[in-house]
Amino acid sequence: MKRVLILGANGQIARVAIDMLLKDTNVKLTLFLRNAKRLKHIAQNNNVELVEGDVLDKVALKLAMDNQDIVYANLSGNLEAQAKTIVEVMNQTGIKRLIFISSMGIYNEVPGEHYGSILDPYRKSASIIEASELDYTIIRPAWLNNQDEISYETTQKGEGFKNASASVSRKSVADLVMKLVSTPTLGVHQSLGVHKA
Ligand SMILES: NC(=O)c1ccc[n+]([C@@H]2O[C@H](COP(=O)([O-])OP(=O)(O)OC[C@H]3O[C@@H](n4cnc5c(N)ncnc54)[C@H](OP(=O)(O)O)[C@@H]3O)[C@@H](O)[C@H]2O)c1
Repeated sequence: MKRVLILGANGQIARVAIDMLLKDTNVKLTLFLRNAKRLKHIAQNNNVELVEGDVLDKVALKLAMDNQDIVYANLSGNLEAQAKTIVEVMNQTGIKRLIFISSMGIYNEVPGEHYGSILDPYRKSASIIEASELDYTIIRPAWLNNQDEISYETTQKGEGFKNASASVSRKSVADLVMKLVSTPTLGVHQSLGVHKA
């Protein structure tokens, strides 16, 4: 049984990923979110545990990380402080595998576009993770939509972002998360751009 801790579990991509992951009976999910009431309906599943907490609370985070195999962070807001805290507590608890949702544009990899300071939290958090000893995968999606489709391709760090003018579905990003969870060696030490196919 693989144990996955989802940080920011009420996030929109996370909620789609949770549905997909729960179809895989070999996964046990710990859903970490600021207001646990919002996912009460999912907690009826035997393979789900709900934990209420803020990612910046190291004590709560450490408790939630006990016995986990994979941390999947689906966060927004102060991503720099969040990434620092996550890396620190993962180092303390000895968990190696981190999947972290970021954004396209953090390396100026979108042809013809320069995204300014709005992406600073994404850039800074990615640098912290890339400088760590963790087995990370950073996911850099294009603009997101809620369409019920799985249609995406990926690019590596160093490559230009493809098809940046089209949005990609959250379901596609969730599919990538699911593949990373189920295939331990996939995407390790990579930062993947995700665009609509
Ligand atoms: N919109 C786009 O087109 C686009 C494109 C590329 C990348 N992105 C980025 O991709 C990421 C994931 O996307 P999404 O749609 O799933 O985002 P989302 O729905 O905004 O989810 C982010 C989650 O992070 C949680 N969170 C924030 N600070 C937290 C903290 N200190 N402790 C615990 N939880 C915290 C929020 O919790 P609460 O529910 O409690 O507020 C929220 O549920 C976001 O950073 C988003 O900006 C977006």
